[in-house]
Amino acid sequence: MPLPSALREALLAHDQLALIEHFGRLNMEDGNRLLADLASLDLPLLARAREDTRSGTTPAAAQIAPPPVIVRGANPAADREATSLGEQALRNGRVAAFVVAGGQGTRLGHPGPKGTYPATPVRGKPLFQVFSEKILAASRRYRSRIPFLVMTSPENHEETQSFFAQHHHFGLREEDLRFFSQGTMPAIDDRGQLILASQTSLFRSPDGHGGSLRALQASGVLAWLEKEGIDLISYFQVDNPLVNPVDPLFLGYHEQSGSEFSAKSVWKRNAGEKVGVFVDVQGKTRVIEYSDLPAELREAKDPAGRLKLGAGSVAIHVIGRPFIEALTTGDLRLPFHAARKDIPAYRDGASVAPIKGTKFETFVFDAMPLARRTMVMLVPREDEFAPIKNREGEDSPETSRRAQADQFARWLEAAGFVVPRDDQGNAPAGLEISPLVADGPEALRSLGSRIGAVRDGLCLE
Ligand code: UTP
Repeated sequence: MPLPSALREALLAHDQLALIEHFGRLNMEDGNRLLADLASLDLPLLARAREDTRSGTTPAAAQIAPPPVIVRGANPAADREATSLGEQALRNGRVAAFVVAGGQGTRLGHPGPKGTYPATPVRGKPLFQVFSEKILAASRRYRSRIPFLVMTSPENHEETQSFFAQHHHFGLREEDLRFFSQGTMPAIDDRGQLILASQTSLFRSPDGHGGSLRALQASGVLAWLEKEGIDLISYFQVDNPLVNPVDPLFLGYHEQSGSEFSAKSVWKRNAGEKVGVFVDVQGKTRVIEYSDLPAELREAKDPAGRLKLGAGSVAIHVIGRPFIEALTTGDLRLPFHAARKDIPAYRDGASVAPIKGTKFETFVFDAMPLARRTMVMLVPREDEFAPIKNREGEDSPETSRRAQADQFARWLEAAGFVVPRDDQGNAPAGLEISPLVADGPEALRSLGSRIGAVRDGLCLE
């Protein structure tokens, strides 16, 4: 069927000859289907993405310095003051929790949305339940409403929503949950040609966690938050069961420092740990990805022998709603990054073996240098970060369950209970405390004799 002339010209202007040829081979029905699919194709955006990835954004090594950080615990009086500010914001209903769950989780390989993965040491509660119960516990503690925003992608949106529905929203009120899907980007092959997923559709993939900011705006959730008087968005990733979805200390330091975009950080295990690091570039804090950090800077040590650039990024943020509004409705935008991936492709009427192609994504931390003020808070890894990314080895279900059980063991000990430890000092691997029972030692202490003896398999619900 003939291609409408405006589309043909646009495709020609962007050198998309393969798609024009493919179109020429389609019958009317398939042609119309492909046309419907192409209605959402934004060729200028794709051109900008390609340009971004060609130009790169990594600063010169001489400009890179360690950033200012607030260290949790370094100043207990300041921590107390910040905590009480954060608690006030929570009591006043100014905070929403926000999980980005649009990723594909290819490394873990779990069938279904990653948030449905059974994550806890004894009960195997899914990640979504862990976050929901922590949010529910906080809303009880602060006697306030804390909406839970869940960003999905077109691929997992329905499954995510029905998972929550099947589990009665894990105790949260339905009206306090907002599900919305992020955008997608087409991918290109090594000749720069758009890749087909089927005879009548382009291959598309989620546009990265940076897409969350635009998705908040485009879905109307940002406007809803404004109407509800919520101006603090507590952002986290779906893979980390140790996260505190609404941390008063972090919220308080965000407020106190007048920050528009704040980040938690954990110190890198070693120079080779593959996480982005916070750096200062000409007075602005930003994240440089592991692969973009020159080797000599990666290894550089300060006079005390510590890594010079050791503040690792763990994707836990507080973001001001007005800042997201300004960013998504103004001229500023996040740069695209390229990821070379194997892409299941379709050619000449049939699926073919995956081909090498380029996907385009934006990263949420690229919003940081666009903010007028930012804040980074360094926290102990063992309390806040044990992600499930890989099937095994580092950052796997096993290491994460271990970290959760270890945290529960520390809480129990701090509350005065005796935790049996083996010769190497390891606590039992099967310990679990529901977020609805306790969020730390203080709450455990008040449970007293209800707990009994601590043993492997103990699960406090
Ligand atoms: P990762 O970078 O770990 O990617 O995402 P992933 O897609 O989950 O996993 P792999 O790389 O395929 O194994 C970090 C966080 O960002 C979210 C993920 O859901 C996760 O919470 N994310 C990532 C999105 O929400 N959208 C995206 O487009 C990408």
